Amino acid sequence: MGAPAKAMPYGKLVDDSLTSGGIYMSGSSDALATVTLRVNRFTPRPERDRPARSGSPFAKKSSPFGGASASARRRPRGKQWVQEYTLPVRREDTVLDCLLKIKRTVDPTLAFRYSCGHGMCGSDAVAINGTPTLLCTATVGDWAKPATPIPLADDEGFRHTGDAGDKRSADTTAPEGNSCEDNADAQSHELGIIELAPLPGFPVQRDLIADIDPMLDQIRKLKPYLQADGVLATTSEGKVDVFEYLQRPEQLAKYELLSNCIACGVCEGACPVYAGGDAFIGPAALISTSRFVNDSRDTATDERLDAIDTADGVAACQSVRACSRHCPRGIDVGEEMWQIVARVRER
Ligand code: SF4
Ligand code: FES
Repeated sequence: MGAPAKAMPYGKLVDDSLTSGGIYMSGSSDALATVTLRVNRFTPRPERDRPARSGSPFAKKSSPFGGASASARRRPRGKQWVQEYTLPVRREDTVLDCLLKIKRTVDPTLAFRYSCGHGMCGSDAVAINGTPTLLCTATVGDWAKPATPIPLADDEGFRHTGDAGDKRSADTTAPEGNSCEDNADAQSHELGIIELAPLPGFPVQRDLIADIDPMLDQIRKLKPYLQADGVLATTSEGKVDVFEYLQRPEQLAKYELLSNCIACGVCEGACPVYAGGDAFIGPAALISTSRFVNDSRDTATDERLDAIDTADGVAACQSVRACSRHCPRGIDVGEEMWQIVARVRER
């Protein structure tokens, strides 16, 4: 960290350290550029202001994988708006770096979730330029795109879809002074815009934080743990020692990659059928089942296949394969879906 920032609450930041090295520029001689983060923000209405839910008499009352409580979490009401932040960056900075910089120096109200910071925990999945991915592995250089204006609402609340009357043109200047000012060099290297929104398919809690509990509930219901009969190992003296769960390398290879799933929800966010999990238990839950079905030590294969042989299980998968494209752990989710569907059908 450099010199303390001279900041006004939620306003413009004039941070002298940025010209010589800020949080993520320190020690670098790379030329700075600027990027504008266009963030879809959401603040839920306080609980006390929400009308009591009477519910529809035709609503599905329960689902083995979601249920009324999951549905009730959906569609929270509150204030939605788009906010832009312009800040100096290097191309290799991650989008998470940018959000942390904004939160620490410009706007402490901006909400997002992260934990490990390097692609291991799966807590920071969002939609970047409409594509579900992790904030901590997405670099500014890869995701910045030429600026497009935010459609402005007219007097009647409709948004212009063309450029007529839109005075913002391709200007990326942040409204309301949400910018980290920097030197003239950085201003002359505009990398463009990065659009951020919460992970699709899940209810939004606040700003970029989606409620992934429906996905975790679905995974949990499919018993994501090994059910195996261990072999009692004996010591050289013939005494009973510990249970062993033996496996050959080629047996391990059948599910090892699947065990890398970090339940980030990126595949669910990309799946056009998932959308909240009422109609489809989702690819992450099926990957979890597949991991144990392919594990030679697991003794509950029939039970597991029964559990996904339902209308909202494998039958709901439409083989769109959008889930395959962006798995941060390199799992070919669509191919695994295909394999588990075939396994269920050939029983
Ligand atoms: S399969 Fe990949 S994209 Fe889907 S939840 Fe697991 S790690 Fe995330
Ligand atoms: S913060 Fe853990 S995966 Fe991104």
